[in-house]
Amino acid sequence: MVAFAVALALVLFAVGIGAAYFVFASFLFGAGYEPTPRRAVERMLRYAEVGPSDTVFDLGAGTGAIVFRAARIYRARVVGVEVEPLRVAILRLRRRLGPFSDRITIRWGNLFRLDFRDASVVTAFLWPGAMTRLRPKLEAELAPGARLVSHCHPVPGWVADEYDPETDVYLYRWPAARESGAAPAGPTGGT
Ligand SMILES: C[S@@+](CC[C@H](N)C(=O)[O-])C[C@H]1O[C@@H](n2cnc3c(N)ncnc32)[C@H](O)[C@@H]1O
Repeated sequence: MVAFAVALALVLFAVGIGAAYFVFASFLFGAGYEPTPRRAVERMLRYAEVGPSDTVFDLGAGTGAIVFRAARIYRARVVGVEVEPLRVAILRLRRRLGPFSDRITIRWGNLFRLDFRDASVVTAFLWPGAMTRLRPKLEAELAPGARLVSHCHPVPGWVADEYDPETDVYLYRWPAARESGAAPAGPTGGT
């Protein structure tokens, strides 16, 4: 009985460590793991008017809540970049098993090393510090006309074109988001 209790405790401990690793290990890179809720994904893709001619970059692709919906429902080309290897393995498995795999690219790596020049739409659900670090990179690399949609956290100092309080989604249009004099939609992130 004691042996069973010890074994059970060890298993629960290992499961806890594994779950904590899965959710929090990527924290230092820019965000822990939390899938974007389906309603927020829909709001993001609709705000950005994603369609077959778009190339969507999902920054921190997680297990693919945005990646696969953008490719399968909206027929976009999608590049999902993810730093955590278990999630990359899940993303690659889902890509292999599902339709439209030719429209989906999964990259294992740090999103801050990805070149955003080919993106017409950028999606993000990252933590505030990562949004701050992201801003100069976005300003250097986004093509005119690109849209950025972010769940939960704004780009500090940018002016949102739209904000949906129900799903907590911000839409930015580049380069209008940085131009002064535009009327802010919803809360802005300060400078
Ligand atoms: C809050 S989750 C969002 C997941 C996904 N976008 C979704 O909609 O379900 C953030 C993801 O970003 C990843 N991440 C955090 N920092 C990163 C970095 N610097 N480069 C690549 N991925 C990163 C995390 O591993 C995590 O999977």
